[in-house]
Amino acid sequence: MSLSLDALRLAAAQSPTNLPLLMLLADACLADMQVDEARQTLERVLALEPRHALARVGLARVAVLEGKTSEAVVRLEKVLEDESDCGEAMVQLSRLLVTEEGEGTRARQLYQKALELDRSLADEALERDLNQLPPDKYPTNAEAGGKRGGVTAGGDFMESWEDEDHAPRGGAAFDLGLSDFERPKLKFSDVGGMEDLKEMIRMKILYPMQHSELFKAYGKKMGGGVLLYGPPGCGKTLISKATAGEIQANFIALGLHQILDMWIGNSEKRMHEVFELARKNAPCVLFFDEVDALAADRRDLRQSAGRNLINQFLAEMDGAEGDNEGVLVLGATNAPWHIDPAFRRPGRFDRALFVPPPDAEARAAIATVMARGKPMAGFDPVALAKKTPDFSGADLKGVFDLATETVLEEAMKTGKLVPLTTKLLQQAATRHKPTTKAWFESAKNYAMYSNQAGFYDEVLQYLGLLKKGN
Ligand SMILES: Nc1ncnc2c1ncn2[C@@H]1O[C@H](COP(=O)(O)OP(=O)(O)O)[C@@H](O)[C@H]1O
Ligand SMILES: [Mg+2]
Repeated sequence: MSLSLDALRLAAAQSPTNLPLLMLLADACLADMQVDEARQTLERVLALEPRHALARVGLARVAVLEGKTSEAVVRLEKVLEDESDCGEAMVQLSRLLVTEEGEGTRARQLYQKALELDRSLADEALERDLNQLPPDKYPTNAEAGGKRGGVTAGGDFMESWEDEDHAPRGGAAFDLGLSDFERPKLKFSDVGGMEDLKEMIRMKILYPMQHSELFKAYGKKMGGGVLLYGPPGCGKTLISKATAGEIQANFIALGLHQILDMWIGNSEKRMHEVFELARKNAPCVLFFDEVDALAADRRDLRQSAGRNLINQFLAEMDGAEGDNEGVLVLGATNAPWHIDPAFRRPGRFDRALFVPPPDAEARAAIATVMARGKPMAGFDPVALAKKTPDFSGADLKGVFDLATETVLEEAMKTGKLVPLTTKLLQQAATRHKPTTKAWFESAKNYAMYSNQAGFYDEVLQYLGLLKKGN
């Protein structure tokens, strides 16, 4: 791999305007995780040919590697807006959507369309993931006219969206991700490790919700905003769902795509409706997953629509549009540095919780969960945890997938069931690069050079660059 990468570098240096060659180089860089070089190469292509679809898809892949999933989605959707038959963009987008709950149908459709255009885009791993999706519980937005409703752990106001003019306009369907968070069964006990964070969530979210009367007695209002941030794949979405399962209050969740839909629909009105729904159902947690999709500075991508939507969101959080007592806004992001500082002012997301990568104990707990229901022979999760420093929960899932592929191959050859072993998993771990390191590289820069009001102190503590209690 690195030999051909070097060869491509040389060749590209010789003919710096050879687009196909630059694209080959970019591909090789991506395959080798040379993210910066990939980006630079793709930008060179775009400087020469600004509408180059595959280079734009490449930049989306760069964004994925940097943990900026929401940015990647927006980029890919934009490519498809301009070039509706770009199969590569469809496959990449499908890959991102397949892990987003509630987006299974769209992921499937995109992949099928891509294959119709070009059989050579077939992707076994993606196909497997698509096949593992549960059958669609709900019709797609387009089929249902978009009438999907709100979600609560205890309420049933789903129907309230079926009436009047709540139906979304056009294709930019709006929904609150019913399939995402419908009566979350997940509890804290289903989340491996993260004990400190669980306790913090109990202190900052669950107890105040449970004892709102007590809060009032002391003249304190319940509500406000809490931001969960950290490297991708480390359980932010998972712990939020589990919070919904733990909590007695109502819980409304907006995933990435509901947020992006608002951008596309330019819908400040929808934003207001979501907050109103939360206010009517207080005490209530209003969860925005990948909130950077909303708060990010994306002037390059969605110029005019953006400012209004952001201003609306801020006004809602400030309570300018209605009384927010009993509404707790929870946000999650991989890219806190892309969040407009205006979002962190008092009364908005003024509390931040860092979700670190799992430690060895947590990795063992996660591995134990993942081994459930698989043919295993004498599995030692602690031994696997030892060999997987810096691995996120999602990375561990990758290790299980890799090892499973190996034994499946073996099983196909012999026709016998081959169990997974600790050793096979450890071997698979050597073939998987942990994804959290790249995140910390970026985070470190922001934490060192723009640590306003100690926002990143927890990151610095984690990196050992700041003592606790500072
Ligand atoms: N603490 C954990 N316990 C069990 N599984 C985990 C844990 N952290 C991550 N995972 C696995 O990794 C996947 C990705 O986690 P997710 O919550 O989506 O990460 P994030 O939102 O931080 O990017 C989860 O769906 C789950 O399979
Ligand atoms: Mg997430």
